[in-house]
Amino acid sequence: MSQTQLSHTLLVGTQWGDEGKGKIVDRLAGDFKAVVRYQGGNNAGHTVYLGQQKVVLHLLPSGVLTAGVVNVIGHGVVLEPAALMEEMDKLKALGYTITPAQLKISGGCTIIHRYGLMLDQLREQSQGQAKIGTTGKGIGPTYEDRVARRALKARDLLDPKKIEKILDSLWQERGILLHQLYQCRDVPRLSEEVARLAKMGEQLAPFITDTMDELDLVQQQGGRILYEGAQGVMLDLDYGTYPYVTSSNTGLGGVYTGGYVPSQGINRVIGVVKAYTTRVGEGAFPSELDNELGAKLQELGHEFGATTGRKRRCGWLDLPQLKYAIKVSGITELALTKIDVLAQMQQVGVVTSYKELATGKKLDRFYLGLDASTVEAQVEPLAPITAQELELLAKEKKLTGALKVFINLISAHVNIPVKMISFGPGKEDLVIL
Ligand code: IMP
Ligand code: MG
Repeated sequence: MSQTQLSHTLLVGTQWGDEGKGKIVDRLAGDFKAVVRYQGGNNAGHTVYLGQQKVVLHLLPSGVLTAGVVNVIGHGVVLEPAALMEEMDKLKALGYTITPAQLKISGGCTIIHRYGLMLDQLREQSQGQAKIGTTGKGIGPTYEDRVARRALKARDLLDPKKIEKILDSLWQERGILLHQLYQCRDVPRLSEEVARLAKMGEQLAPFITDTMDELDLVQQQGGRILYEGAQGVMLDLDYGTYPYVTSSNTGLGGVYTGGYVPSQGINRVIGVVKAYTTRVGEGAFPSELDNELGAKLQELGHEFGATTGRKRRCGWLDLPQLKYAIKVSGITELALTKIDVLAQMQQVGVVTSYKELATGKKLDRFYLGLDASTVEAQVEPLAPITAQELELLAKEKKLTGALKVFINLISAHVNIPVKMISFGPGKEDLVIL
């Protein structure tokens, strides 16, 4: 087998998350031997289908419903053990029991405990207008512990003494913040939290392993690995719209630090892009439609957060932003989703550039630190996409009319091909061009 055939693949969201990554991974998983989550935690919400049953995955990799796939939770992930158990129980109730052969958790995952979780929620509540709009799952404070070199790791869960030692020293500081700064009255006692985590450790023990060895083995046996990004490039801690970002590297960099890539490397990076743009939480959004059109997209696309149920802000597809995401994550091809939603709009637009308000200068790419309030998105109107065009796509893989204009406009602007188009929620509602 040539080197190219053995190389691995990364799939990332090119916007602010919720591009429909779970569905694409679910569809592609059969071509891979392993699917790896490398960052984020249960702030993610990946919707997949078990037959007709809709399942929202938060921590489990989206290859978990595909037979024969090894699903890996890499050490870059922040793991909330109770949330993982709950997710596995939900699948069990649907007749789907996850075995240690199917799921491998790195001992290096950072554990989300009650103190981190409470801190995330209390901080957000106290921020008022200045809040980030986090998912409230404890992601930020847990990554802070990791960087501060005092975090609890998944492997520590196997030893109650270790849990106690780590939480005890953390608790010295966290306790002051929770009790004194935030006046929190229902903080669990240290002994309670240690006991709760130790019990979780017992349940998770069969799944905790050296995931690097597992991935090496997959490669040695000729298998390919699919890395599954959570959130999107614009929420990347370093490349995103800071400070309105998540606390991990969602893009290409995060794979290497949080997932481990065996020697054959990654040669294919699929960027998932929704046919319009959405964002949950606060922060810059140049193509946002704060009007009836945005409300229509929200309604037609059922744009509610899969984790928090919040309404997503909506706007047109933003090509300057997409160009930036492609550049910073080395994306080699695009998978376009929710074209069926855009096709229900009577009026369709695409942002092709920004105009700097102060200078009148045209910008054709987003840049790090861009303040969206200093630019005006330049919208190119397009003809509405018709049901007939979608049908020709679905049945004959043919691009015609307004749909063809739309796809060609995207690839001409960003210089990489659109290789997949998804036109409905089902796994089958996808053509690979
Ligand atoms: P955190 O990740 O909970 O700290 O939230 C930080 C920001 O990332 C907020 O704007 C969240 O709405 C956003 N965010 C986190 N996870 C997701 C996701 O899976 N989809 C979309 N937005 C997300
Ligand atoms: Mg989501």
